[in-house]
Amino acid sequence: MQQEDKFIQATNLIADANHLLVFTGAGVSHESGIPVFRGKNGLWQKYRPEELATPDAFRKAPRVVWDWYRYRRALIRKANPNPAHIVIAELERIKSTFLLVTQNVDGLHRVAGNKKLVELHGNIFYTKCTACDNCIYEYEGENWSDLPYCECGALMRPAVVWFGEPLPEAALTQAFEFARTADVVLVVGTSGVVYPAAYVPLIVKQHGGKVIEVNIEPSAITPHADIFLQGKAGDVLTHIMKLLTRSK
Ligand code: APR
Repeated sequence: MQQEDKFIQATNLIADANHLLVFTGAGVSHESGIPVFRGKNGLWQKYRPEELATPDAFRKAPRVVWDWYRYRRALIRKANPNPAHIVIAELERIKSTFLLVTQNVDGLHRVAGNKKLVELHGNIFYTKCTACDNCIYEYEGENWSDLPYCECGALMRPAVVWFGEPLPEAALTQAFEFARTADVVLVVGTSGVVYPAAYVPLIVKQHGGKVIEVNIEPSAITPHADIFLQGKAGDVLTHIMKLLTRSK
């Protein structure tokens, strides 16, 4: 099938969807200048995730882990939503029943305007206590060199999900429940290799929904995709939005 025919088919599915789910990974923020994790130039090619993004790493070397998250926070503060984020925020406005489920912790979907949003892996700008339920936005401690401590005296950590940790129960339940009712899932910029997040598009498929994937290259999701649109998220989603507005 020609690429343009696939775009038209995907646009019709999105236009006719009663329950649209959008599922994103690091690829949707790549054009905002934020590195992805896997593939060439991916963060996990340069750094070892087990030394930076696990509870064990934090126990052994909290300062190394905090330096890593402060580095990524500084990188993300300089980033802006790109056209892909903008289109996904527009999709929330035009579709009455919509949910965005993201694996990203960069918060750029919120900046772009999405509100019906589930951040499965947390948000990098929140800092939580390792002992009590204290959780503070944009908190990095009194000064850069120190480690941040809670009033209760315990060490604080980035409020993101590390490898080997459970995802926030409420977020996962909301994502899976919506996936069971979604008739279309638009998957954008994920390698689809990290579970349980990667179940989300598969649940849509299992319940008879259609899977549209946007990626610069095939991923673990592609074999399950009804339509695979190869290209950069910003370009592909902008093209879909153009077709959507023309068809209205
Ligand atoms: N447009 C579309 N897709 C892109 C673009 C782009 N401009 N740039 C990269 N991609 C694709 C890559 O081809 C890849 O398939 O985005 C995907 C990024 O995959 P990963 O780096 O594995 O990121 P992600 O799938 O979000 O990882 C899931 O793993 O490390 C953990 O917690 C972390 O949430 C993350 C999870």
